[in-house]
Amino acid sequence: MTALTIDALTVAFGRFTALDAVSLAVDPGEVRAVIGPNGAGKTTLLDVISGITKPVSGRVMLGDRIDLTKRSEAEIAKAGVRRKFQKPSVFPALTVRENLEIGCGPALPARERPARIASVLGEIGLGPRAAVPAGRLAHGEKQWLEIGMVLAAEPALLLLDEPVAGLSDAETAQTAALIRSLRRPDRAILVIEHDMGFVEAIADRVTVLHEGRTLYEGSMAGARHDARVIEVFLGR
Ligand SMILES: Nc1ncnc2c1ncn2[C@@H]1O[C@H](COP(=O)(O)OP(=O)(O)O)[C@@H](O)[C@H]1O
Ligand SMILES: [Mg+2]
Repeated sequence: MTALTIDALTVAFGRFTALDAVSLAVDPGEVRAVIGPNGAGKTTLLDVISGITKPVSGRVMLGDRIDLTKRSEAEIAKAGVRRKFQKPSVFPALTVRENLEIGCGPALPARERPARIASVLGEIGLGPRAAVPAGRLAHGEKQWLEIGMVLAAEPALLLLDEPVAGLSDAETAQTAALIRSLRRPDRAILVIEHDMGFVEAIADRVTVLHEGRTLYEGSMAGARHDARVIEVFLGR
């Protein structure tokens, strides 16, 4: 079984084809990075997976049963897909713990919340900061809190849009270690990122998009030696 199977996905905005028959499969427990130049279609891909954009054709299967292209955004979230957007959107006046409470969602019974929150605080390394208002966190800590908020829902598929944009080198290295530590057999992670050092540190495999098509799929080390990837992207 695969965690996520994208099959011949085509997306158009008017007469412009943003994704052209893109296929990819993410294994359970895999960290996959999607990279490529601006305009390649990376955000569009995440928009389709999360139900914001509907394709012209193709399928997006979560596990082997649920075709996400047939579901609403709310149904997709309920099926276990969570997305961390690029811009941190934590609630600044609420504490780290209160933000994680919100991340748990309304369905989690109150008696299960403390254990869930303690577990997420451990994963994101913000245990000592649990009582601090989120507005007082450093930029990196805010990013980790937001990753925690999506983790609190125990997603089967975690979508991360540029998780290290604007972070210092030290924060980027810490975020790479965090994402590596989040790998679990029942959780697949799809990351869009521009920082190639970061991608090399976290990704099991990379998919290189270019003008809405898949140019390369494989290891980041292999991408660095692929003539077409170098020509359109890495060599620039
Ligand atoms: N809502 C939209 N309407 C029209 N064109 C769009 C829309 N969203 C994205 N595009 C176009 O689709 C292409 C892919 O965009 P995007 O997925 O944001 O690329 P990336 O995230 O890889 O930089 C770009 O040429 C962009 O201008
Ligand atoms: Mg984008």
